[in-house]
Amino acid sequence: MARALPKLLASDAAGIAAAAALLRDGGLVAFPTETVYGLGADATDDRAVARIFAAKGRPSFNPLIVHAASAEALQPLVQWNAWAEALANAFWPGPLSLVLPRSADCPVSALASAGLPTLAIRVPAHPVARRLFEAAGLPIAGPSANRSNALSPTAPAHVAESLGEAVDAILDGGVCAVGLESTVVDLSGARPLLLREGGLTREALLEHLPNLGEPQRGAKIAGPGMLAKHYAPDCPLRLNATSVRPGEALLAFGPDAPAAEQVLNLSARGDLVEAAANLFRHLHALNALRPAGIAAMPIPEAGLGRAINDRLRRAAA
Ligand code: TXA
Ligand code: MG
Repeated sequence: MARALPKLLASDAAGIAAAAALLRDGGLVAFPTETVYGLGADATDDRAVARIFAAKGRPSFNPLIVHAASAEALQPLVQWNAWAEALANAFWPGPLSLVLPRSADCPVSALASAGLPTLAIRVPAHPVARRLFEAAGLPIAGPSANRSNALSPTAPAHVAESLGEAVDAILDGGVCAVGLESTVVDLSGARPLLLREGGLTREALLEHLPNLGEPQRGAKIAGPGMLAKHYAPDCPLRLNATSVRPGEALLAFGPDAPAAEQVLNLSARGDLVEAAANLFRHLHALNALRPAGIAAMPIPEAGLGRAINDRLRRAAA
C-alpha cells in the first residue's frame, strides 16, 4: 500500500509562515539546507524533539544539531569561545556545525543533546532555511530528514519517501547544492577535534584551526555519523570498483566509466563538488532500481572526496 505523503509547502511567504506556525505548535517540518534536508522541531520543546527521534527511528542517545538564522541567535545557548568566533566568522552561514559546552541556562531540550553537556549548533546558508528560522523565532533541532541509518535526503521527494506521514510538512527548497552533511567540529575540549567530515573541507578548516585533531579511536562518541554502518542503500555496495558485475548498478566517477546497463555518474568531468552534490541523489536513484548491488568507482581522497569516501565506506559497511 502506498504511504500517505506529507504536505509540500512552497517556499513563498505563505509557505514559510505555515511552516513556522507548525514549528511553534510542536510540529515536525522538513526544511532545506545547502547540505541536506533537515527534520526540524522546536529545540526547546521536549515533546517535539522526542517526535524527531520517533519519526526517524533513531536511538535516543544520538544528539541533534540546533540551527538558527544567525550566530547571535545561537550564542546564548552555548559557552562561545575564540575558536567558535574564528570559525563562525570564516564559514557561517555554511556547511559547518560546532560542538560547544551548553550554557548554564541553555533552554534547549536535554534530549536534543542526548543528555550530553555539549550542543552542536549551525547556521545554514540556504535562504529558505534562514527565513524559516527567523519566522519561527526559535532554535530548531534538525537531524537529516531520513529514517535512521538510511540515505540522507537531498530533495523533497527523498524526505517524503523516507518519512511519509511521520513529518507534518516539507518546505520545498529544491535540490541541495552541497549534498553532503555539514562538517562537525568539537570545540568543547582542550583541542579542537574533527568529529565528522562533511561539506566544508578539512583543508579549509586547517587554515583557521591549525591545531585541529582527530578523536582517538574507540573514544566514546555517540553519534550516527560515527557509526560504521550508516547512509546505507538496501543492497550491498562495493567500493573502488573498476568494472561492473552481473546485476550490479554502477555509481561512476570521472570520464572513464566502464559501460554498464544501469549507471549514474557523480561527475563525468571528475569534479568533486559536483560529485558531492549528486552523491545521495544518485544513490537514491540507483537503489530505487533494486539492483543486486551497487558498484562505486574510486573517488580521490582529497578535498570533498574525503567526505564522499567516508559516506561510501559507511554505506558499504
Ligand atoms: O548538514 C547537516 O549537518 C544536517 C543538516 C540538517 O543540518 N544535519 C545532520 O544531522 O546531518 P544528523 O543528526 O544526521 O547528524 C548530526 C551529527 C551526528 O554525527 C551527531 O553525532 C553529531 O552531529 N552531534 C550532534 N550533537 C553532538 C554533540 N553534542 N557532540 C558530538 N557530536 C554531536
Ligand atoms: Mg543523518
